[in-house]
Amino acid sequence: MKSTLLFDSPAYLEINEARWLVAKQVLSDVTESGVATNTAYDFGSGPGWFSKRLHDIGLNVHALEGRQDLVELGRKRAPECHFQTFDFDGADAEVLPAPRDFSLAYGILYHLENPLRSLRMMAKMTKNVMLLETMVIPGEKEFARVVKENPNETQGIQPLAMILTQSAVERAIWACGFDYLYKINAPINHPDFQSSSERHERRCIWVMSRVPINLRDFCPLDMKEPQRADYWKK
Ligand SMILES: C[S@@+](CC[C@H](N)C(=O)[O-])C[C@H]1O[C@@H](n2cnc3c(N)ncnc32)[C@H](O)[C@@H]1O
Repeated sequence: MKSTLLFDSPAYLEINEARWLVAKQVLSDVTESGVATNTAYDFGSGPGWFSKRLHDIGLNVHALEGRQDLVELGRKRAPECHFQTFDFDGADAEVLPAPRDFSLAYGILYHLENPLRSLRMMAKMTKNVMLLETMVIPGEKEFARVVKENPNETQGIQPLAMILTQSAVERAIWACGFDYLYKINAPINHPDFQSSSERHERRCIWVMSRVPINLRDFCPLDMKEPQRADYWKK
């Protein structure tokens, strides 16, 4: 079995703690808004750091992870959760596990060959609310960049992945059919979420929902139709 040295490194745990604070607050706000979060997916779960925490605050967790050895590790580390080997790039988009109330999609989208298709699959598996965190490339428009993945267990299964700009992520969420979209507007205690003169904001977090919710650290975004009627033409 492969080591989880990278998943257990201080840098990894530091960003996990910062992202968990956001997830915990979102779950509390969603529940207060009267929306069910009893059952959850953890998409691209790795060995289950977030799966375990979701379980510990009372959710019934189904973790989907592309690497079989990480699934086995997850089963050991979070035996209360259900782990399944599932490859977002290879799976049949028409034959998906049943929808669950809440989905956590942390650290997975930017490791995928086809983030647009995968996001639609994730949306189909989400009954109420999805919390998405991903790396982004700089830029105002809806662009993507093809990048080479590092050959280690925290990265994509395929050699190449496609990373989107923030606007491209938001357009992809629009295409998934969620009616409500919220973007984080509170500081997150990790440099990857901050921009400076030397470094652009490398990560961002969104919540998408089927019904309106009150989220204290997020602002609502308009899910606007594209401006041109023939927007699909090249
Ligand atoms: C950066 S880790 C994120 C782990 C955890 N979600 C987190 O945020 O800390 C990316 C995870 O996605 C998994 N992964 C990569 N490509 C995948 C794919 N095509 N389908 C499912 N899981 C994939 C990797 O094996 C790895 O466990």
